[in-house]
Amino acid sequence: MKFREQTGLYREYVEKFMQDWYARFHDEPQKQLFEAMEYSLLAGGKRLRPIFAFEFCRICGADWQAAAPFAAAVEMIHTYSLIHDDLPSMDNDDLRRGRPTNHKVYGEAMAILAGDSLLTDAFAVAATAQLAQPQDMAFAISVLSECAGSLGMVGGQVLDICSEERECTEEEILNIQSRKTGALINAACVLGVIAAGGTEEQIDAAASFAGALGIAFQIRDDMLDVIGTRDEMGKGVGTDAEKNTFVQLYGLQKCEELVQKYTRVALDALDAFEDPGILPELAASLTDRRN
Ligand code: IPE
Ligand code: IPE
Ligand code: MG
Ligand code: MG
Ligand code: MG
Repeated sequence: MKFREQTGLYREYVEKFMQDWYARFHDEPQKQLFEAMEYSLLAGGKRLRPIFAFEFCRICGADWQAAAPFAAAVEMIHTYSLIHDDLPSMDNDDLRRGRPTNHKVYGEAMAILAGDSLLTDAFAVAATAQLAQPQDMAFAISVLSECAGSLGMVGGQVLDICSEERECTEEEILNIQSRKTGALINAACVLGVIAAGGTEEQIDAAASFAGALGIAFQIRDDMLDVIGTRDEMGKGVGTDAEKNTFVQLYGLQKCEELVQKYTRVALDALDAFEDPGILPELAASLTDRRN
């Protein structure tokens, strides 16, 4: 199957999965919470993390649908991270996924609670995965928790915020990017392998791929804050002047080289797989993405 068809299929599948998950709760009295969650969750992001989960599962030889609960769980955690990232006390943005940000529509309290619920519900969703080796579930949950929490995405967001007052070194910026962005991409890729009952070597390769790709992805995101448009991105641009990014440190041209460099490192990690499927084309397509 071609790259576009395959990614389209994965995208549709995870969207339906998440839609169905929440459709069951529409008669609950806390309607506003579900409305706020679904507003951001079903707003049409790129669904990159679910695509990675499905494709890693497939190239490890299993039915890709087996990864759906993990794919949805990571996307729910990612969506919560975006809702909270946009809050006035954080990046204070007013547009996300082409729509006014969650707190602009539902207010700050509901945006915080919608994020809290998406994070918590994600673990219930992940727990529905049917694994060939049921004992792998504990491992999967610990990977998801570690990547999302204080050592992963949340830890990275803290470093991101706390470093705004000073100039960071290259090493510090890499650490921030690996955590705030790399960690959830890592969870998606590794959980895809776990869903397939993959080997330790495959798990390590997926983590190496994700580590490098997460850095390339965030450098491109930081470039797009300068060269992208609000229309293309569906989110605010030109808002990162205070942030510690490679664009601030080295300028756009060097960033282009760094995106290529880290993408090459990511691609090398795929040598561990007999057939890496659409992953090489997907990784390459992200280097010059416009959204
Ligand atoms: C945005 O992630 C936040 C970053 C980690 C840079 P995406 O660019 O994957 O956002 P969506 O999911 O497509 O909206
Ligand atoms: C994204 O960093 C990290 C997380 C949301 C966890 P950014 O703050 O650069 O993401 P955008 O640009 O708002 O999507
Ligand atoms: Mg941010
Ligand atoms: Mg932001
Ligand atoms: Mg950004």
